[in-house]
Amino acid sequence: MPVLIIGAGLVGSQIARILVEQGERPVVMDQRPQREALAQIVDLARIDLVEGDVLRPLTLSQAICKGGITSIVHTAAHPMLTLGAQRDPYAAIQLNIMGTVNVLDAARVHGVKRVVVSSSSVLNGHMSGGEDAGDMTREEAFPRPSTFYAATKQAVESIGHNYAAIGIEFAAMRYGPVAGPWGGPGGGGPTVMFRDMMEAAIAGDEAVIPSAAMEWVYSKDAARGTVLALQSATLASRVFNITMGKATSPEEMTVALKEVFPGVRTRFDKPLVSGGARSKPAQITRAKNILGYEPEFPLLVAMRDYVAWSRATAKG
Ligand SMILES: NC(=O)c1ccc[n+]([C@@H]2O[C@H](COP(=O)([O-])OP(=O)(O)OC[C@H]3O[C@@H](n4cnc5c(N)ncnc54)[C@H](O)[C@@H]3O)[C@@H](O)[C@H]2O)c1
Repeated sequence: MPVLIIGAGLVGSQIARILVEQGERPVVMDQRPQREALAQIVDLARIDLVEGDVLRPLTLSQAICKGGITSIVHTAAHPMLTLGAQRDPYAAIQLNIMGTVNVLDAARVHGVKRVVVSSSSVLNGHMSGGEDAGDMTREEAFPRPSTFYAATKQAVESIGHNYAAIGIEFAAMRYGPVAGPWGGPGGGGPTVMFRDMMEAAIAGDEAVIPSAAMEWVYSKDAARGTVLALQSATLASRVFNITMGKATSPEEMTVALKEVFPGVRTRFDKPLVSGGARSKPAQITRAKNILGYEPEFPLLVAMRDYVAWSRATAKG
């Protein structure tokens, strides 16, 4: 099943690794491939790495035709996600929305069967309004995204639903804040906080704990959920929450870190940019029931895996 992965960063690299471990040879497209960081996750000799911009439809067409692609995973992202989109809304809107439209339309034109895109659990948090409580005869029936990034993710899900109605098999994966191994710039604010916290603890320095409760997902689980959606016999649903299945408070994060690094010094960080209060943790039952997704990296396992990767790459 020839797969095109667009975006070879924190999550895309892990998707490539899983497919390679399954014996596939994915085509991996990135505008600026970080070869060194990618090689720490996946054997570059076992993928076809192409430099290409998702905002250039003909580049996409070429990759699809040349690779005989039958499914696409789209993970390309504007740097620093929510924070980046607040700083440069036009670029984030262009990449997140038009990039995804390019992928979906290229799939339509070239007969690509399935498109799986990365969405975000910000749609369960960075929302406000909805005071007309679902009453469609009124103006504020539903909450609206309260950040540019969340607005682009909601648009992408809605556009994808409409491509699904005209024959593209479409799924959007709503990852929680992604933590995980990655040796270059990438991910969002929480990704960087997790990485900095772990690297400080590894170095024996004071570790700064994210100050908000977050529904993390380890990058390997985010990638596995995505591959499950890519390979599921049918897609009985089109949006899936992919998280650790629970919110981790700053206090729980501290306890877990101290279990991995007894005696580590910690302090809480300033809160991140936030567009609204999260009402309840995201439910992962759809992903469990339809895709067979279960988080394999709860917090402690994720931390230990990160430490093993960090020490191995430092030695390498
Ligand atoms: N990291 C998180 O915490 C998080 C949380 C929820 C959802 N997501 C979503 O998951 C997806 C993957 O995020 P990530 O953390 O792996 O991001 P990342 O920044 O690590 O990787 C994104 C990759 O996309 C590439 N890219 C950027 N513009 C491109 C373009 N025009 N054409 C081709 N490639 C381009 C970048 O070079 C980069 O390698 C994104 O859609 C993101 O919104 C991430």
